[in-house]
Amino acid sequence: MTIKELQTIIDTSNYIVFFGGAGVSTESGIKDFRSKDGLYSQKFKNYRPEDILSRSFFFNHTKDFYEYFRRHFLDTGIKPNKAHMWLKDAESIGKVKCVITQNIDGLHQMAGSKNVVELHGSAHRYYTVKKKQPIDGLTYILNTEDIPVDSEGDLIKPDVVLYEEPLNSEVVRKAIEEISKADTLIVAGTSLTVYPAASFIEYFKGKHLIVINKEYMQFKHFIEGQVGEILSQIKL
Ligand SMILES: NC(=O)c1ccc[n+]([C@@H]2O[C@H](COP(=O)([O-])OP(=O)(O)OC[C@H]3O[C@@H](n4cnc5c(N)ncnc54)[C@H](O)[C@@H]3O)[C@@H](O)[C@H]2O)c1
Repeated sequence: MTIKELQTIIDTSNYIVFFGGAGVSTESGIKDFRSKDGLYSQKFKNYRPEDILSRSFFFNHTKDFYEYFRRHFLDTGIKPNKAHMWLKDAESIGKVKCVITQNIDGLHQMAGSKNVVELHGSAHRYYTVKKKQPIDGLTYILNTEDIPVDSEGDLIKPDVVLYEEPLNSEVVRKAIEEISKADTLIVAGTSLTVYPAASFIEYFKGKHLIVINKEYMQFKHFIEGQVGEILSQIKL
């Protein structure tokens, strides 16, 4: 599909929902998982990233988990890119109604998007494991190279969904509700391999399912390229 055809669809849509993955943030300098130079291509202390980001690894190897997490998910210098900015602008004029993201980096909110569904939680939120209290975890995590605990020794955990953990049911309900209301669904920067998130697009009943990815994917309305580069060519 061409940019011109995408423009026509956007012009005639009234309820656009955006469903994005790690590829939406690569133009901000954050590595995705499955691209050639993605995180899955690099081992850490002989562990595979998909094992490190699991619940059992978090509890059994907490120090290693945090070393990896600090290195790859806590870069405080990152900024939203053209994709995040386009989505914010499109929401502000009522075109895009909801952004559903598998990312945990908080870049959509940083760009100014309001209706954001974070399927896998956020690296900007933390809680204590025993007391289950929200806590400003970043301060603790960045101030120690050890395992971060609160003043009573309670372990601090990021509010992100790790492998082996279920998604939050209210978040799932909201994502499915938004997808099923959409007349156009833009699926971008995701390999659609992480379940159950990837299966939610099956709830789409609208007219146009558009897929944007820098690597070819077999969809009727597919555009090959960088999400930010493509969306920023679409006039609002
Ligand atoms: N930024 C983050 O928060 C972050 C980063 C890495 C992984 N994750 C987590 O990893 C899981 C991985 O699943 P996923 O499907 O989101 O990621 P993935 O790594 O499996 O797939 C990323 C996809 O995006 C494509 N891509 C990369 N850069 C792109 C760009 N600029 N434009 C268009 N396409 C681009 C790749 O070709 C690939 O198909 C997610 O659940 C997410 O929670 C999050």
